[in-house]
Amino acid sequence: MTRYLITSALPYINGIKHLGNLGGSMLPADVYARFLRQKGEDVLFICATDEHGTPAELAALEKNQDVETFCTEQHEIQKSIYQRFHLSFDHFGRSSSSQNAELTQHFCKKLMENGFIEERTIKQVYSVDDGRFLPDRYIVGTCPHCGYEAARGDQCENCTRVLDPTDLINPRSAVSGSSNLEIKDSKHLFLNLPAMESKLAAFIDEHEAEWPIVVTSIARKWLKEGLRERCITRDLKWGISVPKEGFEGKVFYVWFDAPIEYIGATAEWAEKDPEHRDWKSWWYDAKDVRYTEFMAKDNIPFHTIMFPATLFASGEPWKKVDYIKGFNWLTFYGGKFSTSQKRGIFTNQALDEFQPDFWRYWLMANTPENADSSFTFSSFAATINKDLNDVLGNFVNRVLKMTASKIGAAVPAGGEWTAVEKEFIQTLQKRVTDYTKYLSEMEFRKALTELRAIWVEGNNYLTAAAPWTVIKEDPEKAAMILRLALNVIRLYAVLSAPIIPETAEKIQKLLNLENAGYAWPKADLTEELQTLKAGHAFNVPEQPLFQKITPEAVTDLCARYGGNPDE
Ligand code: 2FM
Ligand code: ZN
Repeated sequence: MTRYLITSALPYINGIKHLGNLGGSMLPADVYARFLRQKGEDVLFICATDEHGTPAELAALEKNQDVETFCTEQHEIQKSIYQRFHLSFDHFGRSSSSQNAELTQHFCKKLMENGFIEERTIKQVYSVDDGRFLPDRYIVGTCPHCGYEAARGDQCENCTRVLDPTDLINPRSAVSGSSNLEIKDSKHLFLNLPAMESKLAAFIDEHEAEWPIVVTSIARKWLKEGLRERCITRDLKWGISVPKEGFEGKVFYVWFDAPIEYIGATAEWAEKDPEHRDWKSWWYDAKDVRYTEFMAKDNIPFHTIMFPATLFASGEPWKKVDYIKGFNWLTFYGGKFSTSQKRGIFTNQALDEFQPDFWRYWLMANTPENADSSFTFSSFAATINKDLNDVLGNFVNRVLKMTASKIGAAVPAGGEWTAVEKEFIQTLQKRVTDYTKYLSEMEFRKALTELRAIWVEGNNYLTAAAPWTVIKEDPEKAAMILRLALNVIRLYAVLSAPIIPETAEKIQKLLNLENAGYAWPKADLTEELQTLKAGHAFNVPEQPLFQKITPEAVTDLCARYGGNPDE
Protein backbone atom coordinates (compact mmCIF):
# COMPACT_ATOMS: atom_id res chain seq x y z
CA MET A 1 0.00 0.00 0.00
CA THR A 2 1.23 3.48 -0.86
CA ARG A 3 2.15 5.85 1.95
CA TYR A 4 1.79 9.58 1.30
CA LEU A 5 4.48 12.00 2.36
CA ILE A 6 3.44 15.64 2.03
CA THR A 7 5.55 18.70 2.70
CA SER A 8 4.75 22.37 2.44
CA ALA A 9 7.46 24.95 1.78
CA LEU A 10 8.88 25.98 5.14
CA PRO A 11 7.71 29.45 6.15
CA TYR A 12 10.54 31.77 6.93
CA ILE A 13 10.95 32.68 10.61
CA ASN A 14 11.46 36.42 10.14
CA GLY A 15 7.85 37.46 10.76
CA ILE A 16 4.20 36.53 10.63
CA LYS A 17 3.21 35.37 7.15
CA HIS A 18 0.60 36.96 4.92
CA LEU A 19 -2.38 35.27 3.27
CA GLY A 20 -0.38 34.62 0.10
CA ASN A 21 2.09 32.42 2.00
CA LEU A 22 -0.75 30.47 3.56
CA GLY A 23 -2.74 30.02 0.35
CA GLY A 24 0.28 29.22 -1.83
CA SER A 25 1.65 26.22 0.04
CA MET A 26 0.57 25.33 3.58
CA LEU A 27 -3.20 25.47 3.07
CA PRO A 28 -3.46 23.46 -0.17
CA ALA A 29 -1.06 20.92 1.34
CA ASP A 30 -3.38 20.67 4.33
CA VAL A 31 -6.44 20.18 2.13
CA TYR A 32 -4.68 17.38 0.27
CA ALA A 33 -3.48 15.74 3.49
CA ARG A 34 -6.96 15.91 5.03
CA PHE A 35 -8.55 14.49 1.89
CA LEU A 36 -6.15 11.53 1.77
CA ARG A 37 -6.62 10.82 5.48
CA GLN A 38 -10.40 10.85 5.01
CA LYS A 39 -9.90 8.29 2.26
CA GLY A 40 -8.12 6.13 4.81
CA GLU A 41 -4.61 6.61 3.42
CA ASP A 42 -1.45 6.57 5.49
CA VAL A 43 -0.33 10.21 5.43
CA LEU A 44 2.61 12.08 6.93
CA PHE A 45 2.29 15.86 6.63
CA ILE A 46 5.42 17.78 7.56
CA CYS A 47 6.29 21.44 7.84
CA ALA A 48 8.65 23.61 9.92
CA THR A 49 9.94 27.11 10.34
CA ASP A 50 12.92 27.96 8.15
CA GLU A 51 15.14 29.60 10.75
CA HIS A 52 18.60 30.25 9.39
CA GLY A 53 20.00 33.02 7.27
CA THR A 54 20.49 36.73 7.53
CA PRO A 55 16.83 37.85 7.60
CA ALA A 56 16.45 36.00 10.91
CA GLU A 57 19.63 37.61 12.26
CA LEU A 58 18.52 41.07 11.22
CA ALA A 59 14.96 40.67 12.48
CA ALA A 60 16.34 39.57 15.85
CA LEU A 61 18.68 42.54 15.89
CA GLU A 62 15.78 44.87 15.21
CA LYS A 63 13.91 43.41 18.19
CA ASN A 64 16.97 43.55 20.40
CA GLN A 65 16.89 39.81 20.93
CA ASP A 66 19.52 37.15 20.47
CA VAL A 67 18.67 35.19 17.37
CA GLU A 68 17.92 31.94 19.21
CA THR A 69 15.39 33.58 21.52
CA PHE A 70 13.89 35.38 18.57
CA CYS A 71 13.46 32.15 16.60
CA THR A 72 11.98 30.26 19.54
CA GLU A 73 9.44 33.02 20.09
CA GLN A 74 8.56 33.42 16.42
CA HIS A 75 8.26 29.67 15.95
CA GLU A 76 5.64 29.49 18.69
CA ILE A 77 3.77 32.47 17.24
CA GLN A 78 3.62 30.96 13.76
CA LYS A 79 2.78 27.52 15.10
CA SER A 80 -0.21 28.80 17.05
CA ILE A 81 -1.51 30.75 14.04
CA TYR A 82 -1.39 27.61 11.89
CA GLN A 83 -3.17 25.66 14.60
CA ARG A 84 -5.93 28.26 14.59
CA PHE A 85 -6.21 27.81 10.82
CA HIS A 86 -6.54 24.06 11.50
CA LEU A 87 -3.47 23.12 9.49
CA SER A 88 -3.18 19.43 10.33
CA PHE A 89 0.60 19.00 10.31
CA ASP A 90 1.75 15.74 11.82
CA HIS A 91 4.74 17.76 12.87
CA PHE A 92 5.68 21.40 12.65
CA GLY A 93 9.41 21.47 13.24
CA ARG A 94 12.34 23.88 13.27
CA SER A 95 15.20 23.92 10.82
CA SER A 96 17.47 24.88 13.73
CA SER A 97 16.91 21.43 15.27
CA SER A 98 19.81 19.13 16.08
CA GLN A 99 18.29 16.57 13.69
CA ASN A 100 18.59 18.96 10.78
CA ALA A 101 22.16 19.91 11.76
CA GLU A 102 23.15 16.27 11.81
CA LEU A 103 21.54 15.50 8.46
CA THR A 104 22.89 18.62 6.77
CA GLN A 105 26.40 17.78 7.92
CA HIS A 106 25.88 14.20 6.79
CA PHE A 107 24.93 15.34 3.30
CA CYS A 108 27.88 17.69 3.12
CA LYS A 109 30.29 14.88 4.06
CA LYS A 110 28.75 12.50 1.51
CA LEU A 111 28.92 15.15 -1.20
CA MET A 112 32.57 15.81 -0.37
CA GLU A 113 33.36 12.08 -0.41
CA ASN A 114 31.68 11.73 -3.80
CA GLY A 115 33.55 14.66 -5.28
CA PHE A 116 30.64 17.03 -5.73
CA ILE A 117 32.02 19.75 -3.45
CA GLU A 118 34.79 22.09 -4.37
CA GLU A 119 36.63 24.47 -2.08
CA ARG A 120 37.27 27.93 -3.43
CA THR A 121 38.46 31.26 -2.20
CA ILE A 122 36.04 33.88 -3.29
CA LYS A 123 35.69 37.58 -3.06
CA GLN A 124 33.01 38.44 -0.54
CA VAL A 125 31.20 41.71 -0.25
CA TYR A 126 31.98 43.44 3.02
CA SER A 127 29.97 46.49 4.04
CA VAL A 128 32.26 48.95 5.74
CA ASP A 129 29.40 51.01 7.21
CA ASP A 130 27.57 47.92 8.52
CA GLY A 131 30.79 46.31 9.80
CA ARG A 132 29.93 42.88 8.34
CA PHE A 133 30.01 40.59 5.35
CA LEU A 134 26.85 40.95 3.34
CA PRO A 135 25.14 37.79 2.21
CA ASP A 136 23.88 37.74 -1.35
CA ARG A 137 20.32 38.71 -0.61
CA TYR A 138 21.45 41.72 1.37
CA ILE A 139 23.06 43.27 -1.61
CA VAL A 140 20.52 44.90 -3.89
CA GLY A 141 20.85 46.44 -7.30
CA THR A 142 19.56 46.37 -10.85
CA CYS A 143 18.92 42.97 -12.48
CA PRO A 144 21.16 42.60 -15.57
CA HIS A 145 18.49 40.46 -17.26
CA CYS A 146 15.27 42.41 -16.81
CA GLY A 147 16.32 45.77 -15.41
CA TYR A 148 14.34 45.37 -12.15
CA GLU A 149 15.90 47.89 -9.79
CA ALA A 150 15.43 46.11 -6.47
CA ALA A 151 16.85 42.73 -7.47
CA ARG A 152 18.55 40.83 -4.67
CA GLY A 153 22.01 39.41 -5.00
CA ASP A 154 20.74 35.81 -4.89
CA GLN A 155 17.69 35.96 -7.12
CA CYS A 156 15.67 38.49 -9.07
CA GLU A 157 12.14 38.44 -7.71
CA ASN A 158 10.87 39.90 -10.93
CA CYS A 159 12.20 37.43 -13.50
CA THR A 160 13.05 34.60 -10.99
CA ARG A 161 16.58 34.29 -12.44
CA VAL A 162 19.20 33.20 -9.97
CA LEU A 163 21.94 35.77 -9.57
CA ASP A 164 25.31 36.30 -8.02
CA PRO A 165 25.79 39.62 -6.21
CA THR A 166 28.51 40.52 -8.72
CA ASP A 167 25.89 40.35 -11.52
CA LEU A 168 24.04 43.34 -10.06
CA ILE A 169 24.36 46.79 -11.56
CA ASN A 170 24.80 49.61 -8.94
CA PRO A 171 25.09 47.28 -5.92
CA ARG A 172 24.38 48.62 -2.40
CA SER A 173 23.77 47.26 1.11
CA ALA A 174 20.18 46.36 1.86
CA VAL A 175 20.91 46.79 5.56
CA SER A 176 21.94 50.44 5.46
CA GLY A 177 21.66 51.43 1.80
CA SER A 178 25.36 52.21 1.82
CA SER A 179 27.29 51.64 -1.37
CA ASN A 180 30.56 51.76 0.58
CA LEU A 181 31.24 48.11 -0.13
CA GLU A 182 34.59 46.33 -0.11
CA ILE A 183 35.58 43.00 -1.53
CA LYS A 184 37.44 40.61 0.79
CA ASP A 185 38.73 37.08 0.32
CA SER A 186 36.91 34.21 1.99
CA LYS A 187 37.06 30.40 1.67
CA HIS A 188 33.83 28.61 0.73
CA LEU A 189 32.32 25.30 -0.40
CA PHE A 190 30.66 24.98 -3.78
CA LEU A 191 28.17 22.38 -4.93
CA ASN A 192 29.09 21.21 -8.41
CA LEU A 193 25.71 21.48 -10.12
CA PRO A 194 27.13 21.28 -13.67
CA ALA A 195 28.32 17.76 -12.89
CA MET A 196 24.73 16.84 -12.08
CA GLU A 197 23.20 18.42 -15.13
CA SER A 198 22.30 15.32 -17.15
CA LYS A 199 20.95 13.56 -14.09
CA LEU A 200 18.76 16.55 -13.26
CA ALA A 201 17.57 16.95 -16.84
CA ALA A 202 16.55 13.29 -16.86
CA PHE A 203 14.75 13.82 -13.56
CA ILE A 204 12.73 16.71 -15.01
CA ASP A 205 12.08 14.73 -18.25
CA GLU A 206 10.69 11.89 -16.22
CA HIS A 207 8.08 14.17 -14.62
CA GLU A 208 7.50 16.60 -17.47
CA ALA A 209 4.14 15.18 -18.53
CA GLU A 210 2.71 15.08 -15.04
CA TRP A 211 3.93 18.18 -13.22
CA PRO A 212 2.25 21.60 -13.51
CA ILE A 213 3.64 23.82 -16.26
CA VAL A 214 4.70 26.51 -13.79
CA VAL A 215 7.01 23.91 -12.22
CA THR A 216 8.57 22.35 -15.31
CA SER A 217 8.93 25.65 -17.14
CA ILE A 218 10.97 27.17 -14.30
CA ALA A 219 13.10 24.04 -13.97
CA ARG A 220 13.66 23.98 -17.74
CA LYS A 221 14.63 27.64 -17.76
CA TRP A 222 17.29 26.93 -15.14
CA LEU A 223 18.65 23.99 -17.08
CA LYS A 224 18.63 25.92 -20.33
CA GLU A 225 20.58 28.79 -18.83
CA GLY A 226 23.18 26.23 -17.79
CA LEU A 227 23.83 25.26 -14.20
CA ARG A 228 26.58 26.91 -12.23
CA GLU A 229 28.47 25.84 -9.13
CA ARG A 230 26.54 27.14 -6.13
CA CYS A 231 28.20 28.33 -2.96
CA ILE A 232 26.66 26.44 -0.03
CA THR A 233 28.44 28.15 2.86
CA ARG A 234 28.27 31.64 4.34
CA ASP A 235 30.25 33.98 6.57
CA LEU A 236 27.61 34.14 9.27
CA LYS A 237 27.36 33.14 12.91
CA TRP A 238 23.78 31.83 12.93
CA GLY A 239 23.30 28.54 11.13
CA ILE A 240 24.58 24.99 10.89
CA SER A 241 28.33 24.76 11.26
CA VAL A 242 30.43 23.33 8.45
CA PRO A 243 32.14 20.03 9.40
CA LYS A 244 35.47 20.80 7.80
CA GLU A 245 38.81 22.04 8.99
CA GLY A 246 39.41 25.66 8.18
CA PHE A 247 35.69 26.43 8.11
CA GLU A 248 35.29 27.29 11.76
CA GLY A 249 32.96 30.26 12.21
CA LYS A 250 31.18 29.61 8.92
CA VAL A 251 27.75 28.10 8.40
CA PHE A 252 25.74 26.50 5.62
CA TYR A 253 23.71 28.60 3.23
CA VAL A 254 20.10 28.62 4.42
CA TRP A 255 18.86 27.15 1.13
CA PHE A 256 21.21 24.19 1.57
CA ASP A 257 19.82 23.17 4.95
CA ALA A 258 16.16 24.27 4.56
CA PRO A 259 14.96 21.45 2.29
CA ILE A 260 16.99 18.94 4.29
CA GLU A 261 14.75 20.00 7.18
CA TYR A 262 11.89 18.15 5.46
CA ILE A 263 13.83 15.07 6.48
CA GLY A 264 15.00 16.67 9.74
CA ALA A 265 11.45 17.50 10.78
CA THR A 266 10.43 13.92 10.07
CA ALA A 267 13.21 12.82 12.42
CA GLU A 268 11.94 15.33 15.02
CA TRP A 269 8.45 13.83 14.61
CA ALA A 270 9.76 10.29 15.09
CA GLU A 271 11.75 11.23 18.16
CA LYS A 272 8.53 12.13 19.96
CA ASP A 273 7.40 8.51 19.80
CA PRO A 274 10.40 6.41 18.78
CA GLU A 275 8.71 3.08 19.46
CA HIS A 276 6.04 3.63 16.83
CA ARG A 277 7.64 6.02 14.38
CA ASP A 278 10.46 5.40 11.97
CA TRP A 279 11.52 8.52 10.08
CA LYS A 280 13.96 6.71 7.87
CA SER A 281 11.29 4.45 6.43
CA TRP A 282 9.69 7.58 4.92
CA TRP A 283 12.88 8.87 3.34
CA TYR A 284 15.47 6.20 2.78
CA ASP A 285 14.87 3.52 0.18
CA ALA A 286 11.19 4.32 0.62
CA LYS A 287 9.75 2.64 -2.44
CA ASP A 288 6.18 2.58 -1.15
CA VAL A 289 6.12 6.34 -0.47
CA ARG A 290 4.55 8.89 -2.80
CA TYR A 291 6.09 12.26 -1.98
CA THR A 292 4.32 15.53 -2.86
CA GLU A 293 5.74 19.00 -2.28
CA PHE A 294 3.70 22.23 -2.20
CA MET A 295 5.26 25.62 -2.87
CA ALA A 296 5.01 28.99 -4.57
CA LYS A 297 6.90 29.57 -7.79
CA ASP A 298 9.92 31.36 -6.32
CA ASN A 299 10.79 28.14 -4.49
CA ILE A 300 10.68 25.93 -7.56
CA PRO A 301 14.36 26.16 -8.64
CA PHE A 302 15.50 25.01 -5.22
CA HIS A 303 13.14 22.03 -5.22
CA THR A 304 13.64 20.94 -8.84
CA ILE A 305 17.40 21.48 -9.01
CA MET A 306 19.26 22.20 -5.77
CA PHE A 307 17.57 19.76 -3.40
CA PRO A 308 17.37 16.85 -5.88
CA ALA A 309 21.04 17.52 -6.73
CA THR A 310 21.95 17.18 -3.05
CA LEU A 311 20.00 13.94 -2.78
CA PHE A 312 21.43 12.45 -5.99
CA ALA A 313 24.97 13.49 -5.19
CA SER A 314 24.85 11.74 -1.82
CA GLY A 315 24.86 8.45 -3.74
CA GLU A 316 22.37 7.15 -1.19
CA PRO A 317 18.78 6.09 -1.93
CA TRP A 318 17.04 9.16 -0.51
CA LYS A 319 13.44 9.70 -1.53
CA LYS A 320 13.04 12.23 -4.34
CA VAL A 321 9.86 14.18 -4.90
CA ASP A 322 7.18 12.46 -7.02
CA TYR A 323 4.92 15.44 -7.57
CA ILE A 324 5.46 19.17 -7.13
CA LYS A 325 2.37 21.29 -6.79
CA GLY A 326 3.63 24.78 -7.60
CA PHE A 327 1.58 27.94 -7.39
CA ASN A 328 1.66 31.35 -8.98
CA TRP A 329 1.23 34.45 -6.84
CA LEU A 330 -1.74 35.54 -4.84
CA THR A 331 -1.70 39.31 -5.10
CA PHE A 332 -3.36 41.96 -2.96
CA TYR A 333 -5.37 44.17 -5.31
CA GLY A 334 -3.04 43.18 -8.13
CA GLY A 335 0.11 44.18 -6.20
CA LYS A 336 2.53 42.26 -4.03
CA PHE A 337 1.70 41.20 -0.50
CA SER A 338 4.74 42.35 1.36
CA THR A 339 5.86 41.37 4.83
CA SER A 340 8.46 44.11 4.96
CA GLN A 341 6.21 46.81 3.49
CA LYS A 342 3.19 45.70 5.55
CA ARG A 343 0.96 45.54 2.50
CA GLY A 344 -2.03 43.23 2.61
CA ILE A 345 -3.57 41.18 5.34
CA PHE A 346 -1.48 38.95 7.56
CA THR A 347 -2.49 35.56 8.90
CA ASN A 348 -2.91 36.76 12.50
CA GLN A 349 -4.99 39.75 11.41
CA ALA A 350 -7.12 37.53 9.19
CA LEU A 351 -8.01 35.37 12.19
CA ASP A 352 -8.94 38.42 14.25
CA GLU A 353 -11.44 39.44 11.56
CA PHE A 354 -13.20 36.22 10.56
CA GLN A 355 -13.45 32.52 11.30
CA PRO A 356 -10.67 30.48 9.67
CA ASP A 357 -13.05 28.69 7.30
CA PHE A 358 -13.94 31.95 5.54
CA TRP A 359 -10.26 32.37 4.64
CA ARG A 360 -9.71 28.71 3.87
CA TYR A 361 -12.69 28.68 1.55
CA TRP A 362 -11.82 31.86 -0.33
CA LEU A 363 -8.15 30.94 -0.67
CA MET A 364 -8.92 27.50 -2.02
CA ALA A 365 -11.64 28.73 -4.39
CA ASN A 366 -9.25 31.36 -5.78
CA THR A 367 -5.96 29.53 -5.54
CA PRO A 368 -3.38 30.87 -8.07
CA GLU A 369 -3.12 27.52 -9.79
CA ASN A 370 -2.73 28.41 -13.46
CA ALA A 371 -2.19 32.15 -13.19
CA ASP A 372 -1.80 34.77 -10.48
CA SER A 373 -5.00 35.63 -8.63
CA SER A 374 -5.89 38.77 -6.79
CA PHE A 375 -7.35 39.14 -3.32
CA THR A 376 -9.87 41.92 -2.79
CA PHE A 377 -12.21 42.35 0.16
CA SER A 378 -15.20 42.72 -2.19
CA SER A 379 -14.46 39.41 -3.88
CA PHE A 380 -13.94 37.84 -0.46
CA ALA A 381 -17.29 39.12 0.84
CA ALA A 382 -19.14 38.12 -2.34
CA THR A 383 -17.80 34.56 -2.23
CA ILE A 384 -18.49 34.09 1.47
CA ASN A 385 -21.99 35.56 1.22
CA LYS A 386 -22.97 33.59 -1.85
CA ASP A 387 -21.32 30.22 -1.41
CA LEU A 388 -21.13 29.76 2.33
CA ASN A 389 -24.16 31.75 3.49
CA ASP A 390 -26.70 31.47 0.67
CA VAL A 391 -25.86 27.99 -0.50
CA LEU A 392 -24.35 25.75 2.20
CA GLY A 393 -25.51 27.62 5.31
CA ASN A 394 -28.99 28.11 3.95
CA PHE A 395 -29.44 24.43 3.15
CA VAL A 396 -28.30 23.26 6.58
CA ASN A 397 -30.39 25.80 8.49
CA ARG A 398 -33.47 25.33 6.36
CA VAL A 399 -33.54 21.56 6.65
CA LEU A 400 -32.79 21.36 10.36
CA LYS A 401 -35.26 24.07 11.32
CA MET A 402 -38.05 22.87 9.07
CA THR A 403 -37.77 19.26 10.24
CA ALA A 404 -37.68 20.30 13.88
CA SER A 405 -40.66 22.62 13.61
CA LYS A 406 -42.89 20.46 11.40
CA ILE A 407 -41.99 16.98 12.66
CA GLY A 408 -39.56 17.12 15.59
CA ALA A 409 -35.80 17.21 16.19
CA ALA A 410 -35.06 13.66 15.07
CA VAL A 411 -34.68 12.01 11.67
CA PRO A 412 -38.20 11.11 10.51
CA ALA A 413 -39.12 7.68 9.12
CA GLY A 414 -41.24 8.40 6.05
CA GLY A 415 -41.72 6.47 2.83
CA GLU A 416 -39.57 5.24 -0.02
CA TRP A 417 -37.49 7.35 -2.41
CA THR A 418 -39.25 8.25 -5.67
CA ALA A 419 -37.79 8.80 -9.12
CA VAL A 420 -37.03 12.41 -8.16
CA GLU A 421 -34.84 11.33 -5.24
CA LYS A 422 -33.12 8.69 -7.36
CA GLU A 423 -32.28 11.24 -10.01
CA PHE A 424 -31.02 13.72 -7.42
CA ILE A 425 -28.77 11.02 -5.97
CA GLN A 426 -27.48 10.14 -9.45
CA THR A 427 -26.57 13.79 -10.03
CA LEU A 428 -24.84 14.03 -6.67
CA GLN A 429 -22.99 10.81 -7.35
CA LYS A 430 -21.58 12.09 -10.62
CA ARG A 431 -20.47 15.33 -8.99
CA VAL A 432 -18.93 13.60 -5.98
CA THR A 433 -16.96 11.36 -8.34
CA ASP A 434 -15.61 14.42 -10.16
CA TYR A 435 -14.90 16.25 -6.91
CA THR A 436 -12.95 13.25 -5.62
CA LYS A 437 -10.98 13.06 -8.87
CA TYR A 438 -10.09 16.76 -8.75
CA LEU A 439 -8.91 16.53 -5.16
CA SER A 440 -6.83 13.44 -5.97
CA GLU A 441 -5.25 15.37 -8.83
CA MET A 442 -4.85 18.50 -6.68
CA GLU A 443 -6.89 20.49 -9.21
CA PHE A 444 -8.17 22.71 -6.45
CA ARG A 445 -10.11 25.31 -8.38
CA LYS A 446 -12.05 22.66 -10.23
CA ALA A 447 -12.60 20.81 -6.96
CA LEU A 448 -14.04 23.88 -5.28
CA THR A 449 -16.34 24.63 -8.22
CA GLU A 450 -17.62 21.08 -7.94
CA LEU A 451 -18.08 21.31 -4.17
CA ARG A 452 -20.16 24.43 -4.57
CA ALA A 453 -22.22 22.73 -7.28
CA ILE A 454 -22.81 19.81 -4.91
CA TRP A 455 -24.20 22.25 -2.34
CA VAL A 456 -26.35 23.92 -5.00
CA GLU A 457 -27.86 20.55 -5.98
CA GLY A 458 -29.16 20.17 -2.43
CA ASN A 459 -30.95 23.51 -2.56
CA ASN A 460 -32.35 22.73 -6.00
CA TYR A 461 -33.68 19.41 -4.83
CA LEU A 462 -35.31 20.97 -1.79
CA THR A 463 -36.97 23.66 -3.86
CA ALA A 464 -38.28 21.08 -6.35
CA ALA A 465 -39.39 18.58 -3.71
CA ALA A 466 -41.00 21.37 -1.61
CA PRO A 467 -41.55 19.37 1.61
CA TRP A 468 -43.28 22.38 3.22
CA THR A 469 -46.12 22.01 0.68
CA VAL A 470 -46.08 18.23 0.42
CA ILE A 471 -46.48 17.87 4.20
CA LYS A 472 -50.04 19.16 4.05
CA GLU A 473 -51.22 16.34 1.77
CA ASP A 474 -48.67 13.60 2.25
CA PRO A 475 -46.76 13.81 5.57
CA GLU A 476 -45.14 10.44 4.91
CA LYS A 477 -43.54 11.73 1.71
CA ALA A 478 -42.46 15.00 3.33
CA ALA A 479 -40.76 12.98 6.06
CA MET A 480 -38.91 10.96 3.41
CA ILE A 481 -37.70 14.15 1.71
CA LEU A 482 -36.44 15.60 4.97
CA ARG A 483 -34.81 12.33 5.95
CA LEU A 484 -32.86 12.39 2.70
CA ALA A 485 -32.03 16.08 3.14
CA LEU A 486 -30.68 15.42 6.65
CA ASN A 487 -28.47 12.69 5.22
CA VAL A 488 -27.30 15.10 2.54
CA ILE A 489 -26.26 17.52 5.30
CA ARG A 490 -24.13 14.76 6.76
CA LEU A 491 -22.63 14.07 3.34
CA TYR A 492 -21.83 17.78 2.99
CA ALA A 493 -19.97 17.75 6.30
CA VAL A 494 -17.78 14.89 5.07
CA LEU A 495 -17.14 16.38 1.63
CA SER A 496 -16.46 19.87 2.96
CA ALA A 497 -14.15 18.77 5.78
CA PRO A 498 -10.85 19.05 3.83
CA ILE A 499 -11.65 22.67 2.95
CA ILE A 500 -13.66 23.99 5.91
CA PRO A 501 -12.97 21.62 8.80
CA GLU A 502 -14.38 23.83 11.55
CA THR A 503 -17.71 24.06 9.75
CA ALA A 504 -17.71 20.32 9.12
CA GLU A 505 -17.32 19.81 12.85
CA LYS A 506 -20.12 22.26 13.64
CA ILE A 507 -22.41 20.33 11.30
CA GLN A 508 -21.43 17.00 12.80
CA LYS A 509 -22.23 18.41 16.25
CA LEU A 510 -25.64 19.59 15.06
CA LEU A 511 -26.24 16.05 13.86
CA ASN A 512 -24.97 14.50 17.11
CA LEU A 513 -22.15 12.85 15.16
CA GLU A 514 -19.17 14.35 17.01
CA ASN A 515 -17.14 11.16 16.97
CA ALA A 516 -18.36 9.68 13.71
CA GLY A 517 -15.31 10.71 11.71
CA TYR A 518 -15.27 11.80 8.10
CA ALA A 519 -14.69 8.63 6.10
CA TRP A 520 -14.81 9.53 2.40
CA PRO A 521 -18.00 8.34 0.66
CA LYS A 522 -17.93 5.28 -1.55
CA ALA A 523 -18.65 5.78 -5.24
CA ASP A 524 -22.24 4.55 -4.78
CA LEU A 525 -24.06 7.05 -2.55
CA THR A 526 -27.15 4.92 -1.91
CA GLU A 527 -25.94 3.53 1.38
CA GLU A 528 -24.18 6.74 2.35
CA LEU A 529 -27.43 8.66 2.16
CA GLN A 530 -29.14 6.27 4.53
CA THR A 531 -26.57 6.59 7.31
CA LEU A 532 -28.86 8.61 9.57
CA LYS A 533 -31.72 6.33 10.51
CA ALA A 534 -35.20 7.23 11.65
CA GLY A 535 -35.20 8.37 15.26
CA HIS A 536 -31.63 9.77 15.25
CA ALA A 537 -31.90 13.01 17.25
CA PHE A 538 -30.30 16.24 16.04
CA ASN A 539 -29.88 19.75 17.40
CA VAL A 540 -31.62 22.82 16.10
CA PRO A 541 -29.08 25.55 15.27
CA GLU A 542 -29.34 28.49 17.65
CA GLN A 543 -27.83 30.75 15.03
CA PRO A 544 -27.05 30.38 11.33
CA LEU A 545 -23.83 28.54 10.43
CA PHE A 546 -22.35 31.71 8.91
CA GLN A 547 -22.83 35.47 9.09
CA LYS A 548 -22.78 37.64 6.00
CA ILE A 549 -20.11 40.26 5.42
CA THR A 550 -21.86 43.60 4.95
CA PRO A 551 -20.82 46.31 2.47
CA GLU A 552 -20.02 48.50 5.50
CA ALA A 553 -17.63 45.84 6.77
CA VAL A 554 -15.91 45.75 3.37
CA THR A 555 -15.44 49.53 3.44
CA ASP A 556 -14.04 49.30 6.96
CA LEU A 557 -11.62 46.47 6.06
CA CYS A 558 -10.40 48.41 3.03
CA ALA A 559 -9.76 51.44 5.20
CA ARG A 560 -7.75 49.43 7.70
CA TYR A 561 -5.74 47.16 5.40
CA GLY A 562 -5.48 49.21 2.25
CA GLY A 563 -7.79 48.28 -0.58
CA ASN A 564 -10.55 49.74 -2.67
CA PRO A 565 -14.18 48.84 -1.84
CA ASP A 566 -15.11 49.33 -5.50
CA GLU A 567 -12.59 46.79 -6.80
O1 2FM B 1 10.62 31.04 0.43
C1 2FM B 1 10.59 30.74 1.61
O2 2FM B 1 9.83 31.27 2.39
C2 2FM B 1 11.52 29.66 2.12
N1 2FM B 1 11.60 29.77 3.56
C3 2FM B 1 11.02 28.31 1.70
C4 2FM B 1 11.88 27.17 2.11
S1 2FM B 1 11.25 25.74 1.54
C5 2FM B 1 12.27 24.51 1.99
F1 2FM B 1 13.14 24.24 1.16
F2 2FM B 1 12.70 24.61 3.12
ZN1 ZN C 1 15.34 40.19 -13.36
